[in-house]
Amino acid sequence: MTRATWISLFFCLALPLAGAALGAEEPAAPQPPDEKDYCAACHEGLAGSLKKPVAEWRGSVHAGAGNRCSLCHGGNPSAKDKTRAHSLKDHFAGKPDKKLIAEFCGKAGCHATALDQFRRGPHYRSVLKTGEPGCALCHGVHNIQRSSLDVMKAGSCAACHPAEYSKDMVALIAGFEKGIDEIDANIRLLSDKHAEFRDLQDRFNNMRHMFRQFVHVFSREDMESTRKILEMEIASLDSDAKSKVSAIQLMDVLYIVMLIFGLAIVIGIVTYTIVMYVKRKRKRKK
Ligand code: HEC
Ligand code: HEC
Ligand code: HEC
Ligand code: HEC
Repeated sequence: MTRATWISLFFCLALPLAGAALGAEEPAAPQPPDEKDYCAACHEGLAGSLKKPVAEWRGSVHAGAGNRCSLCHGGNPSAKDKTRAHSLKDHFAGKPDKKLIAEFCGKAGCHATALDQFRRGPHYRSVLKTGEPGCALCHGVHNIQRSSLDVMKAGSCAACHPAEYSKDMVALIAGFEKGIDEIDANIRLLSDKHAEFRDLQDRFNNMRHMFRQFVHVFSREDMESTRKILEMEIASLDSDAKSKVSAIQLMDVLYIVMLIFGLAIVIGIVTYTIVMYVKRKRKRKK
């Protein structure tokens, strides 16, 4: 083992301890609401379906990232009166037509990749005819959360597909998601330990892209092949990440053993020196 390896091993152990001692970095404090966001302010004082979006939106990823209602609806959020706020000059879009919500979410700078994927599948064709099942079926409208499997419930598929089929489909995707979360956690661990993880990260990103494509397209033609590739890639990534993690854990154990061993030697030498010193002093007194 080279000296560099030992030094990096030392840092593997020392850095997390130092990090813990300094205190983990605090998450950024929530931004105070922007005074000039009159969309939310006025709508909060309205009733029913005009008021409801405000509370739902407050807990969403969009609000959390500091965006306002106008991100999606357009209009002028700094205007106090309704006419100016809803001005078409500021591209106020009102309540979008259900058949157009996919385009509404995928507009420039927003979710173009997801829209692209969605357009390739049978659900998009259905949305163009009936407005369902669009992005909101899985992601919601105002209370949009960071995407995870939780957005898919068997119940929401069963409105159009047989209950058994819906349950199987959601279970299949739940299985993928569980595997993906485990790999993600192990890659994070490798990254925290300053181990090599870039190649795994690249493969992970490709695989996750394919997974998202799978849930957004649902095309009958490539379902089976994509499903098989996904299953294989998740299994292979999982075992690669796990073996890397266990190699690192073994190194940690070895390092601690070395440390204890080294300490024992130092204590041994010190004790020996003291004993010898005391002995010699006694001899001299005699
Ligand atoms: C001073 C109050 C006020 C402000 C400011 C305001 N709105 Fe409204 N909004 C209303 C009222 C009242 C309605 C009900 C429809 C109507 O009267 O035009 C409404 C309706 C809406 C609708 C539903 C339209 C439909 O077709 O059903 C949306 C979407 C909307 N507002 C978004 C916004 C956005 C985005 C902003 C900020 C850029 C905003 N509002 C600012 C009062 C306001
Ligand atoms: C992430 C994009 C997005 C954001 C941000 C957003 N909305 Fe909406 N909003 C939509 C979509 C999409 C619809 C259409 C929902 C549907 O047809 O079911 C909608 C519908 C509405 C409606 C009509 C509700 C109804 O049932 O008639 C109102 C009113 C409204 N939004 C107000 C707001 C206000 C006020 C805010 C800010 C507090 C806001 N929205 C933020 C996407 C958004
Ligand atoms: C059948 C349910 C479903 C529908 C319909 C759906 N999504 Fe998703 N979407 C998901 C799931 C599940 C994930 C989470 C994937 C993951 O965990 O990585 C996701 C992830 C995402 C993400 C985050 C990942 C990324 O690529 O950045 C975005 C953005 C997104 N969807 C946008 C959309 C848009 C826009 C539409 C409509 C055009 C849409 N989704 C329609 C289920 C759906
Ligand atoms: C509003 C109705 C509707 C909802 C809700 C819906 N779907 Fe679909 N789905 C369709 C239509 C329509 C097709 C196209 C059927 C065809 O082409 O024969 C389709 C096709 C599919 C396909 C392609 C394979 C096939 O059998 O044609 C899959 C997979 C699928 N849906 C899964 C889901 C899942 C998972 C959910 C729940 C998250 C869901 N769907 C929710 C209407 C819906």
